[in-house]
Amino acid sequence: MSAIDQYLESHASRFEEELCEFLRIPSVSADPNHRDAMQQAADWVADQFRHLRFAAEVIPTEGHPLVYAESPTVQGAPTVLVYGHYDVQPPDPLEKWTTPPFEPTLRNGNIYARGATDDKGQMFTHIKSAEAWITVEGRLPLNLKYLIEGEEEVGSAALEQYLNEHADRLACDCIVISDGGQFAPGVPAITYGLRGIAYYEIIVRGPNRDLHSGSFGGSVTNPANALTQILAGLMDAQGRVTIPGFYDDVIALTPREREEMAAMPFDEKQFFEQIGVRGTTGEAGYTTLERRWARPTFDISGLSGGYQGEGSKTVLPSSASAKFSFRLVPNQDPDKITADLKWKLTKLCPPGVDYELIVHHGAPGVLASLDSPYIEAAAQAIEHAFERPPVYTREGGSIPIVTTFHQKLGADSLLLGWGQDDDNTHSPNEKFCLADFHRGIKASAQLWGEISKIKAKKK
Ligand code: BES
Ligand code: MN
Ligand code: MN
Repeated sequence: MSAIDQYLESHASRFEEELCEFLRIPSVSADPNHRDAMQQAADWVADQFRHLRFAAEVIPTEGHPLVYAESPTVQGAPTVLVYGHYDVQPPDPLEKWTTPPFEPTLRNGNIYARGATDDKGQMFTHIKSAEAWITVEGRLPLNLKYLIEGEEEVGSAALEQYLNEHADRLACDCIVISDGGQFAPGVPAITYGLRGIAYYEIIVRGPNRDLHSGSFGGSVTNPANALTQILAGLMDAQGRVTIPGFYDDVIALTPREREEMAAMPFDEKQFFEQIGVRGTTGEAGYTTLERRWARPTFDISGLSGGYQGEGSKTVLPSSASAKFSFRLVPNQDPDKITADLKWKLTKLCPPGVDYELIVHHGAPGVLASLDSPYIEAAAQAIEHAFERPPVYTREGGSIPIVTTFHQKLGADSLLLGWGQDDDNTHSPNEKFCLADFHRGIKASAQLWGEISKIKAKKK
């Protein structure tokens, strides 16, 4: 066993304790009440780098702070930018957690906490791997830059801005991101595609107060009825979005891709049993993997309006609202989707109510090349740690900044997810499998060695 792997084994439990410390900080980016925790989490990450004697800064932004760190320069060696996020999604609904979201708990080989897998635990693997190199070898074999942000879960606005101004500083040969999943337990993956997203909120307003639904019902447009009518009008019975032009820029799956996806070791029955549904549905003419990875969708994420309390109340609410998004695929432009959506809403809204559309955030999808020495290096590193070579997958989730990285830095991202489908990301009882955590660190440490053998393109 290599000295580095030995070091990782003997320090495994300390790594877990440190991760628990990080997970105790409730860094919920969407919630303004958690501002202090955001700063605390950023400082905690920066301190990790300072312990390694990296140049580290916490950079204030208009939103949440960015953490940036650089390892000491190794002349002539490649430069890798590691990206990750310290922010987490809101933990609601709290009553569904077995143990509280910010009191990390070890149970049956997993660590349970909000952010365990998305993304604190995964991101942390790339810090501990650097620690191993520095402690064991005295130095890293390559140049590492780390950019860890606090707004990934809310659209990465501050980081977009920072990249517009400081792309030079982030120059690199490739970008390493662990913020996704393996294909299945024991089947690690390299991800070459992500979906994009366009996220909105609509508020439908009618009468100037709530009304008795007997006295007024049937004579005024009910904003809640109008809202459901509008939302239902956005998708047809075949699971297709009804907005004209919506599919214009979609890149169709090639026959080869469809064959490869069909050949993946995907256990569909287990997939739906695990999430407690009777079967899967979606756009007609596509398989479950195709629908999840390579087809655009429409989903409502939140609905409100009218009486939500105990029992019944006969009321016609004065307003109703919904949060919804389209997952996009590569080549679809979120701004064009917004323009087309606005037109469609004018057609769908019934008379007697008004609506307001809030555009929350948007990001295009990603398709990366599999033909690069970095992919080869990652495959070697993954095989070293997971004891089998990776499969090549796409993912349905979005990481908004990846396209901007590609455009501004001219570098591709290596998406090496260590999570599992049943990690409960964005859901109660989020977890990260400890074995995956440690394999992730091991793969990362190996990756630095593998990439150091590649000739650097840039200084
Ligand atoms: N880590 C996820 C993205 C992800 C999920 C990648 C599953 C691969 C597989 C990330 O933290 C995330 O949740 N992103 C948001 C982005 C949005 C808020 C702009 C998403 O996909 O909902
Ligand atoms: Mn994430
Ligand atoms: Mn997330």
